[in-house]
Amino acid sequence: MDKEQLLSGRDWIFESNEILVLTGAGLSTASGIPDFRGPQGVWTKDPDAEKLSDIRYYVSDARIRKKAWRSRRDSPVWEATPGIGHRAIAAFERTEKIHTLVTQNIDGLHQMAGSSPDRVIEIHGTIREVACLECTYRAPMKEALERLESGEEDPACPACNGILKSATVSFGQSLIPEDLARAERAACACDLLLAVGSTLSVYPVAGLVPMAKERGAKIIIVNAEPTAMDDLADAALFGDLNELLPALLNWNPEVSDTE
Ligand code: APR
Repeated sequence: MDKEQLLSGRDWIFESNEILVLTGAGLSTASGIPDFRGPQGVWTKDPDAEKLSDIRYYVSDARIRKKAWRSRRDSPVWEATPGIGHRAIAAFERTEKIHTLVTQNIDGLHQMAGSSPDRVIEIHGTIREVACLECTYRAPMKEALERLESGEEDPACPACNGILKSATVSFGQSLIPEDLARAERAACACDLLLAVGSTLSVYPVAGLVPMAKERGAKIIIVNAEPTAMDDLADAALFGDLNELLPALLNWNPEVSDTE
């Protein structure tokens, strides 16, 4: 860990009041949910798995949909609990310095850790709900998983019989316009952007970093490996975020979250 960068990062955080926190899959690996591109990433180990997250394959191939439903049923999300990273950010929120928390994760662990839902933007959606691709039907994921348990392999929308999918944003789908607009407003308004556990390689979310930089925000990146935005970082901290984040945010995981 680069001590000097850590200390500078802590000073800038202490001096900031409107922080945009941007999180990625690295935050949830400690909760048992693999990331995508890290050394043990889902796509690092099985490039074909990416098809499950591409809307073209999903709508055209029932086999891909059935495989996607099985992977939702078997997802480690259902057993996962917030990790040190989620808890550090939730505790830090009590300083009132977080303007917005944009997460690329679909697991809902930030809210479970206590981050206020009105500050969290789940910019790539959520696995905890399902949505119809052809009408406005939306429901809790557990209802669709109950249909799977009773033998349906590819449950269709109960309202219009259209294709049903987790309420996540797949490749080929556009982000929810209001979510992206809100995230971009936060990037323009923040005085510091803290990116944690993300390769910062997927647009338009990765574009929040240069957007904040252009408006004079400090950029701090915390990740186990280099990211696509390291050249914009005022401080790039490489290592385990479960150690770096508590040090950066001056939070001790041993102390109970309620104190
Ligand atoms: N500490 C620090 N970094 C970690 C840790 C950890 N404990 N665990 C994993 N990482 C790092 C990995 O090394 C990797 O660089 O987190 C990063 C996760 O990057 P990705 O797997 O690319 O995940 P993310 O950036 O969130 O992906 C963005 O792409 O796959 C789509 O829609 C999906 O939201 C996702 C988006």
